[in-house]
Amino acid sequence: MNPISIGLTEEQRQGVVKLLNTDLSDAYLLVIKTKKYHWDVIGPQFRTLHELWDQHYEAISMNIDAIAERVRMLGGYPIGTAKGFEENATLNEHPGDLPSADEMVRRLVADHEQIIRNLRDHVDQAGEKFHDEGTADFLTGLMEQHEEMAWMLRSFVEGTTLTPSGDRETDLKVPAAV
Ligand SMILES: [Fe+2]
Repeated sequence: MNPISIGLTEEQRQGVVKLLNTDLSDAYLLVIKTKKYHWDVIGPQFRTLHELWDQHYEAISMNIDAIAERVRMLGGYPIGTAKGFEENATLNEHPGDLPSADEMVRRLVADHEQIIRNLRDHVDQAGEKFHDEGTADFLTGLMEQHEEMAWMLRSFVEGTTLTPSGDRETDLKVPAAV
């Protein structure tokens, strides 16, 4: 078979494959955690969170397939074992506990933010260190999706209280409208 000739060296492709396999592992852990909370959540926001987490599960599952297939496009092999995902992920699991809905949301916000920080670094590495602009663009798209999911979740646990004047109780300084 002809060697892959797409303007990237073997070393560059291997470097990017390593980044992608880390992102794949984190996506796998996050999709498991998201589905578990979809099952376990109780409380007044049950229906909203139950449905939101199903949507996030579907979106992350699509991303998992896209990440793994990009690894193959670059001539590598995606990690494909539960043990391998756990060993290569940067996220942590919380086995054996049943947190409150708010705590579930906070944990998932932290996980999405961890993934966003990783992806931001991997975008830089893919583009600058390995000259793979295709992967940098692909990872930028993933990062934007996680930014949106993190915002949706963050909105559940901040700014829920209104003052008697109807203002939102917050430490944030919001510029006045002009
Ligand atoms: Fe379900």
